[in-house]
Amino acid sequence: MHHFHQLKTTKVSKETNDCVNIAFEIPEHLRNLFKYKQGQYINVRRIVDGEDLRRSYSIVNAPSEGNQEIEILVKNMEEGRVSSFLNHEVQIGDHLEILEPMGHFYTHHHPSNQKTYVGLAAGSGISPVLSNLKEALYQEPESRAYLFFSNKSFESIIFRKEIDALAEQFGGRLKVIYLLSREKHYEDELFEGRISAEKLDRLFERFPEIPVQETTFFICGPSEMIKDISEYLKKDRKVPSLQVMYEYYSAPDDDENAEKSDEFKAIPNLESMVTLIIDDDEYSFHLNSKKNSILDQALAEKLPVPFACKGGVCCTCKAQVMEGEVFMEKNFALTEDEVAKGFVLTCQCHPTTNVVMLNYDV
Ligand code: FES
Repeated sequence: MHHFHQLKTTKVSKETNDCVNIAFEIPEHLRNLFKYKQGQYINVRRIVDGEDLRRSYSIVNAPSEGNQEIEILVKNMEEGRVSSFLNHEVQIGDHLEILEPMGHFYTHHHPSNQKTYVGLAAGSGISPVLSNLKEALYQEPESRAYLFFSNKSFESIIFRKEIDALAEQFGGRLKVIYLLSREKHYEDELFEGRISAEKLDRLFERFPEIPVQETTFFICGPSEMIKDISEYLKKDRKVPSLQVMYEYYSAPDDDENAEKSDEFKAIPNLESMVTLIIDDDEYSFHLNSKKNSILDQALAEKLPVPFACKGGVCCTCKAQVMEGEVFMEKNFALTEDEVAKGFVLTCQCHPTTNVVMLNYDV
């Protein structure tokens, strides 16, 4: 199971009005544990008045840029108790509690590949997309990349200097197209507005050299944008699913009071004995299938279970079913392969048999 580590900040720099870029030093003895893949994320923990607050932030840098530091971008959220602390209070030299890198938002590279990659990002969704495009360009000298990146205004374009410098560094292999949703900056109205299926259709017309069906897409932004674009690519443009990769930064229907699904309503109402294996120790508790999720009940029992988003997005609470069966309400994080192997997101799970055993140590 993953554990939190104290990491020292080596950079805290205001990227735009409402975003800060923070780098953490990875000490020699943690380099193996913190070996990351492009597009992965870390969890930051902050305890406020005894409450354990955790947030996931994507890594901005790419493995080819070295393993001595990890950089994240934090957007200041209104009333965000972690994001506002990171934006306004953290200073260089502070130590923060960080969990090892996780996530599946990446593909594998080979130096002989001659591929096309397209990044589609909105606002702070740039972090994992940029990390992926950089790694592709470093690892595959014959591949090329396009970045379609939407922001509110020219001044609020996140990492503009770095992105422009990369476009220069990689010569014609990286083409960057900025779209502005709240400002007219370019002559061409194609570069106004948000990224949508309709906009993408027109962008593909403008860049006919992009072989859409053979391209690998990295998408990160608001959930409506992800849904709209990924469905368009898969259904209308017939891009194979494995080439359409996306990362949510919040659950699509992130409403705690949302009505439960018909599938959830249909699960049996039963009492279950749930056993969790955490760091080689076993913990058991009773849980009614219609009440708390397994993670929430474990937290109520004060068990040392890993979690972050509690919305089925980040995958931090992943465990494997060893005995019995569970119902998973949402899953925006596990791959089909993982689900087939019995992995579940415990923040979304309810027992559906009288005995359930889950292992967090796998
Ligand atoms: S805590 Fe993020 S998916 Fe469960």
